[in-house]
Amino acid sequence: MTKEVSSLENRIKELKKQRNAVILAHNYQLPEVQDVADFRGDSLELSRAAAKTEAKVIVFCGVYFMAETASILSPHKTVIMPDTNAGCPMANMLSAEELRKLKSEHPQAVVVGYVNSSAQVKAELDYCCTSTNAVAVVNYLKDQEEIIFVPDKYLADYVSKQTGRKLIIWNGFCPTHTKILPEDLRREKKFHPFAKVIVHPECLPQVVAMADAVLSTSQMAKFAKETEAKEMIVGTEVGLIYRLKKDNPGKEFYPASERAVCPNMKRTTQEKILWALEELKEEVKVPDHIRLRAKKAIDRMLEIV
Ligand code: 13P
Ligand code: SF4
Repeated sequence: MTKEVSSLENRIKELKKQRNAVILAHNYQLPEVQDVADFRGDSLELSRAAAKTEAKVIVFCGVYFMAETASILSPHKTVIMPDTNAGCPMANMLSAEELRKLKSEHPQAVVVGYVNSSAQVKAELDYCCTSTNAVAVVNYLKDQEEIIFVPDKYLADYVSKQTGRKLIIWNGFCPTHTKILPEDLRREKKFHPFAKVIVHPECLPQVVAMADAVLSTSQMAKFAKETEAKEMIVGTEVGLIYRLKKDNPGKEFYPASERAVCPNMKRTTQEKILWALEELKEEVKVPDHIRLRAKKAIDRMLEIV
């Protein structure tokens, strides 16, 4: 580590104390960001950490919908993002207006939405879910005749296969996870025949079908610690590998594909974190009329899991 970098880290630490701030980083963030974070996690864990923290300021290092979720759960805290241009293309594939139209075509359906969605879309949901609990949420709705599940069609496909439910879906997908192809897994399995294959449920169904386990990023972190396997092929955004290696120095992790990079997750840097703390900007705040409706869907999810 160069001297320059460590002095930057020290300035972030000092300013964080002065501002009474906490730094939350998603598992896909750059190593330099994960290294200065107080807490690393998946979408659900970060929202929960945001709701629990006693800090006044939350510096959210992730993508926009995650900071919005933190703002929905913690309206009295100042949520800032070091780069508000970090969006999630999947979340942007569905607008509230489009969802309202889909709902009007299926007026009896209960509406479940992946946390990877805008606050406006969340305000239209009955239940929110994450990749950790999507199957549990749909199983909970066993008495409902019709279920709309948006926006990720591949997560919907996985949930549908796990629960045996036919779902009304939207044509959304993650441009990063869909870069992982069956041929990538075949190649990596050939190189590492003893490795376990773990993949995220946002992957293509053909990829999911080849996996030993289908897991959210936090579930992958847990699996990596607990499994007897010494090698894993990891089918998700490549940023998770840094955390897996750091937490499990005796094990080997191979990305299923080096192409699986989420450019939005890489927009945040240590410099931007420092500037955000200096200027207390950019704030992400969900207005109350959206927030209260969106919170209901998140609260219902949290009651189930
Ligand atoms: P996790 O909740 O599993 O971390 O997933 C978030 C995400 O954006 C996956 O692409
Ligand atoms: Fe969105 Fe995919 Fe990036 Fe996750 S990896 S933030 S789903 S684009």
